[in-house]
Amino acid sequence: MDNVIVMLREAVIGHQKMPILEGISLSVFRGEFTYLIGKTGSGKSTLLKTLYGALPLMGGKGQVAGFDLSSLHRKNIPLLRRKLGMVFQDFNLLTDRNVQDNLAFVLQATDWKGKTKIMHRVAEVLEQVNLSALGHKMPYELSGGEQQRVAIARALLNKPELLIADEPTGNLDPETSTEIIRLMRNLAVEYNTAVLFATHDKLVMDAFPARVLECRDKKIWEISN
Ligand SMILES: Nc1ncnc2c1ncn2[C@@H]1O[C@H](COP(=O)(O)OP(=O)(O)O)[C@@H](O)[C@H]1O
Ligand SMILES: [Mg+2]
Repeated sequence: MDNVIVMLREAVIGHQKMPILEGISLSVFRGEFTYLIGKTGSGKSTLLKTLYGALPLMGGKGQVAGFDLSSLHRKNIPLLRRKLGMVFQDFNLLTDRNVQDNLAFVLQATDWKGKTKIMHRVAEVLEQVNLSALGHKMPYELSGGEQQRVAIARALLNKPELLIADEPTGNLDPETSTEIIRLMRNLAVEYNTAVLFATHDKLVMDAFPARVLECRDKKIWEISN
């Protein structure tokens, strides 16, 4: 049980009173890299939002990083989020401050104290995404791929047990996309971080084969790869 980071049993997932996925049972294990595929509108983002507590579980059982989704109280959502890292298609960096201040800001917002400790952690995550040299750059001085690596560094700050990535290569060219997927694969291996990676980028999936789940017809299918 301790090795399971995401567990769904007969879960119903959707918006308001509208189920998008029904009768969903699946497990994701620590350190496991999983692609989540499916056509636009098939429910990938809806599933991920439910996992990070932005949508309530509509039925069945669900656990993420030890939190029970069916009894998840609003005030515990920040505690759940602290165990997760999230990366989206849009990088959402703060445009008015440099890379390292973007990262320091998140640590301060999650109750880290002490400038030395904060800057040390910022340096660590920048090294993990190979951006040590760019800490003083402003976001607008960076390429799309570099900005996404900053966003990944930001997701790593609190040493997440699960990285949730919702089409993180959607705005990137093929070469940069491959670089991002390679980086996330390495993180999964090195730090035993599970990764749930929604994409419809076949190129990326062919470059780095892993487990594949497909959202289709209101269900999630395990696709052999
Ligand atoms: N905020 C929302 N309120 C109601 N329905 C939504 C909302 N967001 C998405 N949906 C619907 O949920 C379904 C799944 O969408 P989504 O999870 O975004 O799919 P995907 O990420 O696979 O493209 C779609 O039919 C979409 O119209
Ligand atoms: Mg989506």
